[in-house]
Amino acid sequence: MRACRIAGVRDERVLQAVAAVPRASFVPRELVDWADEDSPLPIPHDQVTTQPSLVALMIEALELSGTEKVLEIGTGYGWQTALLAHLAEEVWSIERFADIAETARENLRRNGTERTQVVVGDGTQGLAESAPFDAILVAAAHTRVPEPLVSQLADDGRLVMPIGPGGREIVVKFVKTRGQVIRARDVIPAHFVRLVGQHGFPTD
Ligand SMILES: C[S@@+](CC[C@H](N)C(=O)[O-])C[C@H]1O[C@@H](n2cnc3c(N)ncnc32)[C@H](O)[C@@H]1O
Repeated sequence: MRACRIAGVRDERVLQAVAAVPRASFVPRELVDWADEDSPLPIPHDQVTTQPSLVALMIEALELSGTEKVLEIGTGYGWQTALLAHLAEEVWSIERFADIAETARENLRRNGTERTQVVVGDGTQGLAESAPFDAILVAAAHTRVPEPLVSQLADDGRLVMPIGPGGREIVVKFVKTRGQVIRARDVIPAHFVRLVGQHGFPTD
């Protein structure tokens, strides 16, 4: 997609995945005509599906080669999950709203996306039983990386997350080296919904 190139995405595997997975299959039916716009689109519970260029930049920062086990926090309607499934070996995704998660599962099934598991729960707690993860993508904002995600990231793993108050933050890439998660680079300023949970913001 042109908007992803303009935003600076250079990884050809990521660009091919964006081209291969139709976003129109992962937005509310009444918004299909807007699916090719590079804009967030509303989904239930005052949430949104992230705009394509931002999704692609965040995924690019994970540096996926195809062999990884990935954890995504904040499934939304599943487009980012489907892209991750294109680019990694195994994808686990956690969504706090059961109805949103169910729609994501249907969207992924309809698009023949395998190797993905959508779990309903509090993503700030991660998924200890499936850890460690080679890459973690958090698609909602908090002021710091939740501690369980730090411990569930494999050594040499990458974690990408918007850091800030919710509504105005910076997407940051972290890497784990010898047990420590280190801020590697700022990817892009962004506006995200809040990460709500035990290690995030209190339930609204
Ligand atoms: C920006 S939206 C959707 C992002 C989605 N990956 C996409 O590309 O469209 C973020 C999602 O995170 C979910 N969320 C917020 N806090 C969460 C938590 N603690 N655990 C799981 N999901 C959470 C919201 O319900 C929302 O669906």
